[in-house]
Amino acid sequence: MLLWAALLILDGWLAGSRGKLAGSSMSVLMLTFGLSVPVSGQFALPKPVISLHPPWTTVFLGETVNLTCKGFHSYKPEKTKWYHANYRGEKEEREISGNTLKVHEPGKFRCQVRGSPPSDPVHLYFSEGLLILQAPHSVFEGDTLFLRCQKQGKKKLSAVKYIWNGNTLYKSNKSLDLSIPRASLNNSGHYRCIGFTDKNHVLESNTKIIKIQELFPRPKLNATAFQPMEGSSVNLTCETHLHPERLDTPLHFTFFRDKGVILSGWNNSSELQIPIIWKEDSGLYGCGIETVTHSVRKHSLLLEISVQRIPVSQVSMETQPPGGQAVEGETLVLVCSVAEGTGYTTFSWHRENMKESLGRKTERSQRAELEIPAIRESHAGGYYCTADNSYGPVHSEVVTITVREIPSNRSNLMGLGAAGGLFSILLLLFFCWSWRKSGNNFQEEETRSPPNPASGESPWSICPAQVQLQPLYVNVQYQEGELVYSEIQTIWLRGEEEARASRTSLEQKRTSIVYSEVKI
Ligand SMILES: *[C@@H]1O[C@H](CO)[C@@H](O)[C@H](O)[C@H]1NC(C)=O
Ligand SMILES: *[C@@H]1O[C@H](CO)[C@@H](O)[C@H](O)[C@H]1NC(C)=O
Ligand SMILES: *[C@@H]1O[C@H](CO)[C@@H](O)[C@H](O)[C@H]1NC(C)=O
Ligand SMILES: *[C@@H]1O[C@H](CO)[C@@H](O)[C@H](O)[C@H]1NC(C)=O
Ligand SMILES: *[C@@H]1O[C@H](CO)[C@@H](O)[C@H](O)[C@H]1NC(C)=O
Ligand SMILES: *[C@@H]1O[C@H](CO)[C@@H](O)[C@H](O)[C@H]1NC(C)=O
Ligand SMILES: *[C@@H]1O[C@H](CO)[C@@H](O)[C@H](O)[C@H]1NC(C)=O
Repeated sequence: MLLWAALLILDGWLAGSRGKLAGSSMSVLMLTFGLSVPVSGQFALPKPVISLHPPWTTVFLGETVNLTCKGFHSYKPEKTKWYHANYRGEKEEREISGNTLKVHEPGKFRCQVRGSPPSDPVHLYFSEGLLILQAPHSVFEGDTLFLRCQKQGKKKLSAVKYIWNGNTLYKSNKSLDLSIPRASLNNSGHYRCIGFTDKNHVLESNTKIIKIQELFPRPKLNATAFQPMEGSSVNLTCETHLHPERLDTPLHFTFFRDKGVILSGWNNSSELQIPIIWKEDSGLYGCGIETVTHSVRKHSLLLEISVQRIPVSQVSMETQPPGGQAVEGETLVLVCSVAEGTGYTTFSWHRENMKESLGRKTERSQRAELEIPAIRESHAGGYYCTADNSYGPVHSEVVTITVREIPSNRSNLMGLGAAGGLFSILLLLFFCWSWRKSGNNFQEEETRSPPNPASGESPWSICPAQVQLQPLYVNVQYQEGELVYSEIQTIWLRGEEEARASRTSLEQKRTSIVYSEVKI
């Protein structure tokens, strides 16, 4: 204790200062020459922060500065430990109850709360000069930088001039203080002030080096993938870290592409999810971070995201109803699908040996349908489809479409009549044939006009009319007198509409009996 007191007196005497390290009454003061402050990193808690009241690091000799040690999230510790090093290199360490230390002497101060690493140091100056430039201990970008040009004594200055890095920054005879709103790192430098008194006395202050601190470094954009497959999801994050002293600063984030496309406006989420990314989404991506008060805003560098497209492959065509078996008059759907392939795909449907496509669709899909609302017999044939997602069309295999005639009451009747009915018709036909053959009402002309069944010319008005004689085999070379004709005759069943007569030949196949008549 004696040694401690002696050293304190010596300290005060050497410093030429009347100030003493005057903590709370319960203080346990230790002089710890050569004791190094524990290195940070081995502690669980973040560093505490010292705040100053008044906020200036330079005061006049004889004034008091209260240093307050604040734990994480401004938690107020019950006990604090203080480290002080004076400008002769002497160090001391003491623990106090509470967290405020009243200081009257210069030096470097750090504090520590239970279990935390020591704080960053605060340098305090107690000036004997007539004019001082006062600046806060720590200034972050975005903060307003307050500077005070302060004269000792009661008489005030009439005008001031602030010098920054050797240049006049500000001159005034009204406000003696200087405030620089939204300070940036650029505002760091050497500051001093010149004061003018009424009697035209010029006073010069000390020079203060002010370093504006970075609130958070330039953000970095990160993505879960920079060459994602088209159709996959990509998550973007905007990464930075706040200065430990300002961990509770609220931030907003934005994400954009190619400098113009805003993907997400200012928002409190540092992550952006792109559930499905398309090739069209390729580009340069960036993000921005700003404080909620807009005091600081920073943008990341742009990073390229290049979305990879999977070319189409294994194109296939299926039909509904399946197997290419269409029913006349009903809907046929041609479904074109690809096993692989992403993004916009152009599907197109073709009929074999036909130049023009039947239909075309561009969709962000692996399948597309073409509907033929009422298929006709003439539609029968080979069909295929192609798919193209910008690498050139890929063909499917050819599917043969057959068109079955619509099942109707005619066939039902025939079904009902069964073999017996069919036999009767054949019998009837045979009768008609033999009746004609016998010369009755048989017109031996090359083209016979159909007789009117109602004319009563024939007693067998039920016998079918002769419609036309056509060469049966078009390709057959025939000589005169050896003409081969096919006579197409239609048995119109009762109740059959006239319109049926205009049906395509395929329909007639079922209801007509075709036989050949060879004339010699
Ligand atoms: C410093 O703290 C003491 C009490 O701890 C208080 O009386 C005094 O007003 C404080 N000074 C300043 C400048 O805050
Ligand atoms: C303040 O300075 C301006 C010129 O810069 C001068 O016109 C004015 O008279 C001055 N006022 C006082 C009170 O000195
Ligand atoms: C700092 O100064 C540089 C050069 O004068 C300028 O390009 C930059 O925009 C300034 N930064 C800020 C934050 O004002
Ligand atoms: C970027 O994100 C990926 C995946 O989310 C992660 O593995 C990687 O460490 C991150 N890179 C950086 C620099 O943060
Ligand atoms: C993106 O984030 C969502 C939600 O956290 C997650 O479900 C998804 O798997 C992530 N995507 C990637 C590619 O990491
Ligand atoms: C942040 O963005 C998401 C997605 O854009 C949105 O759902 C959410 O409401 C936004 N939150 C705020 C606070 O703006
Ligand atoms: C974002 O903002 C919303 C609404 O303002 C809030 O509920 C949410 O807690 C915020 N999230 C973060 C991470 O700040």
